[in-house]
Amino acid sequence: MGIKENIEEIRQSLQQELSSMSDIKQLEEARQKVLGKKGTLTALLRSMGSLSPEERPAAGQLINAGREMISAMLDARSAALKAVEREAKLRRDAIDVTEPRDLPRVGVPHPCTLALNEVLSALTGLGFDIVEGPEIELDHYNFELLNLPKNHPARDAQDTFYVDDNIVLRTHTSPVQARTMLSRKPPIRIACPGRVFRADEIDATHSPVFHQIEGLVIDKDVNMGDLKGTLDALFKKLYGEDMETRFRPSFFPFTEPSAEVDLTCISCRGKGCRMCKGTGWIEVLGCGMVNPKVLEMCGIDPTVYSGFAFGIGLERITMLRYGIKDLRLLYEGDERFLRQFR
Ligand code: PHE
Repeated sequence: MGIKENIEEIRQSLQQELSSMSDIKQLEEARQKVLGKKGTLTALLRSMGSLSPEERPAAGQLINAGREMISAMLDARSAALKAVEREAKLRRDAIDVTEPRDLPRVGVPHPCTLALNEVLSALTGLGFDIVEGPEIELDHYNFELLNLPKNHPARDAQDTFYVDDNIVLRTHTSPVQARTMLSRKPPIRIACPGRVFRADEIDATHSPVFHQIEGLVIDKDVNMGDLKGTLDALFKKLYGEDMETRFRPSFFPFTEPSAEVDLTCISCRGKGCRMCKGTGWIEVLGCGMVNPKVLEMCGIDPTVYSGFAFGIGLERITMLRYGIKDLRLLYEGDERFLRQFR
């Protein structure tokens, strides 16, 4: 068989192989089989050694031409296979941007946040500004200016966390009252939400960290009737027109007179139930007329101005609002609990 026929045979069998192959790996194997060290065309090249010097140039030309042709065939097929593979990969990796997906899980507002927002929006609706103060507080604001001098027995009732002799974790939001009276001129109408701290037990109704919402109003001719009217308006707005408040005498060093306030039981609307122990009333806050001594210490003339203050326990209001029986549930962060209050 002549060189020409040999090349033609190699070409034909390669062509057959190429037409039936489906990936680049097979193609490279085919390339080796023809052009590799032990390839058929390489063998043909080697066989030239047995030709006479006169025959060699023509044979060399034939083989080189054949080699180029075969290389071109392989390259063309390789390009085609690569294009097909690329096409398939693009199709495989395609993203349907219109496909609906599961939404990421988002958190929900804490029930205390929900209750706080209700109280604050009711109070701002009544004309109160929202003011905040520091959680780490000077003894001076937390106690002294609120008529609780050092060694006053009422300090013991507060189970204070002391940072040092003069600095405490605030035991109530009342220091914000003192700070505001010192920094603003009457009329003052503020609501002060915030975290407070007491060295308390942890049980179903006590926690060393909890929240209060302080209210303070200072103006000319403010009296106890205004205090009662404001609280009535607040709770009617929050829980309905049938809500009433009831004042019981109490004591706070910074208010005089002072009162504990009961609210119509939110759960039974006053009929008497387990939550209100059959009385129809629930205690919700402490309040009173700002003690003239406090006004004076905070730079407000008690012969011209008077005022009232109240302190609402946020957790208590939240528990009443949602019928939650154990305070600890509010701090555990259990999603199954929290997701109920959306
Ligand atoms: N600061 C009081 C407390 O924490 C509550 C209170 C506030 C009472 C304002 C009267 C007036 O117990």
